[in-house]
Amino acid sequence: MGQVKISLSKSAPEDCELLVLPVSAAQTKGSKSKSATGWSAFAPSLRQQLKELDQEFDGYLKSGIEHFEFSPGAFNRVSINLGEPDLFLRLSGVTSLDAQDPPDAQEWRRFGGDVWKAAKEHNSKKVSVVLDSVPATNARLIVEAISEGIHLASYQFNDFKSSNSRSKTSARTFVLSSQSFNTRQMSKAAALAELRAESTAFARDLVNTPPSNLQPRDLVATARKIASKKGSGITQRTFNRAQLSKMGANALLAVSRGSDAAPYMTHLVYKPVNRSKRCKRVVLVGKGVTYDSGGLSIKTRQGLMTMKCDMAGAACMLGVMHAISRMPKADRPTHEVHALIPTSENMINGSSVKPGDVVRALNGKTIEILNTDAEGRLLLADALSYTEKLDADIIVDAATLTGACMAALGSKLAGLFTDDDDLCDMLITAAHDAGEKLWPLPLDSEYRSAIKSSVADIKNIGSGGAPGATTAALFLKEFVPEDVRWAHLDIAGPAFVDSGNEYIQPSATGFGVGTLLQFIAQL
Ligand code: BES
Ligand code: MN
Ligand code: ZN
Repeated sequence: MGQVKISLSKSAPEDCELLVLPVSAAQTKGSKSKSATGWSAFAPSLRQQLKELDQEFDGYLKSGIEHFEFSPGAFNRVSINLGEPDLFLRLSGVTSLDAQDPPDAQEWRRFGGDVWKAAKEHNSKKVSVVLDSVPATNARLIVEAISEGIHLASYQFNDFKSSNSRSKTSARTFVLSSQSFNTRQMSKAAALAELRAESTAFARDLVNTPPSNLQPRDLVATARKIASKKGSGITQRTFNRAQLSKMGANALLAVSRGSDAAPYMTHLVYKPVNRSKRCKRVVLVGKGVTYDSGGLSIKTRQGLMTMKCDMAGAACMLGVMHAISRMPKADRPTHEVHALIPTSENMINGSSVKPGDVVRALNGKTIEILNTDAEGRLLLADALSYTEKLDADIIVDAATLTGACMAALGSKLAGLFTDDDDLCDMLITAAHDAGEKLWPLPLDSEYRSAIKSSVADIKNIGSGGAPGATTAALFLKEFVPEDVRWAHLDIAGPAFVDSGNEYIQPSATGFGVGTLLQFIAQL
């Protein structure tokens, strides 16, 4: 970020190098000519608008549209050179510009991502996005979504590239304009979007950082940085190995035994200044395995390659706290928000925990560890048990927990496990608004028997045939304090991807930051 500046204006700048215009399918001539392409596909009103524009550009616009056989349907996009080498018009199809239709934020986020990509492709430093056709009632949401898309699309992870292998980025200015804009209001919407995008980028950076450069102590230091920023409103408490041992967090300690890196649990607390009666206590728990080799149940060489991503749950929660710490005071959550991060490496040495070992978790339950690669649930067992004394109203955990969830849902959706229907709905709505997807998967107690152990209270893998993402979620449930509303997000698929969209590049996505910020705001 930082290379992108977005400003809001009532009029389009005259000196731009790229002009972007949303065009909707409804602006075509009507259903009969839906298949028509090119100039004749446009409705008279749009044709008139473009014609006026075209007079300035000696007919390049019209011939461009004809040439590309462009038709204005959603996600149809074309760039037309307007005669001068550095002057382009991008027509970007959207579903609707009708005030009657509620705008789809996700479509506009992707629109924004495309604006950035087009600017990069044409090397345009100054871009004008002309939004006069956007109905005033939808403007705030659309400006927010476009801004978020532009910022997220501009994300790059260059920390480990020498300057000559970095792709060149130049600073770009984007002016979003409409005669009907209340520019102050719109600037506020854009600023909020920027903060959200920047917090998602913050999470992406943590996940993209190589595993030897981001160890448990580094996650703790990152949390400390968030809390210690002046005016953050956030306090931190961290437990080291000795303190964890005293506390009885033996499941987390068992995972860390095979590593030279010390484990920690760190706890961030945000409290609203004015506590209303409605104030709830939300505890966010994020899996922080900074590298997952699988331990003695070692992964394959293929499986090992992406396992720096195994702290994406922790990164997500830190992204949320980062956002809260930087919000204008008046916009901060009205609820108490905690982030709890158990963190460890999962490695191999002579002291490694062995398949067959039994440990007693923080809540007193004994666990037979039969597969050292099912380590995430061990960290979470202790972290969830720890929430007992926090008197939480709602717990949401996020974890790159199972390959099984990824097999079921792929990389576009995260699994959502909860017994609480309202919480389920709230999270799905929040995710939808953030352009992320959660899919409910069963937390069915019939599968509880699959994690019964013959020597301990419970074992850390399911017996043959039981669904892996569900047995993992049922395992976690054993450690959630009674009567607390709880949801588990298995983000193994969407946290780290090899194909994204207009504003998500392959690699870390920062999944969950947007969803949880929305969730807290809507609670
Ligand atoms: N961190 C992995 C899950 C994972 C896999 C995340 C792929 C992202 C991409 C987790 O610790 C793990 O290894 N889970 C095991 C559980 C099994 C041993 C019961 C798995 O899914 O194979
Ligand atoms: Mn594992
Ligand atoms: Zn793992």
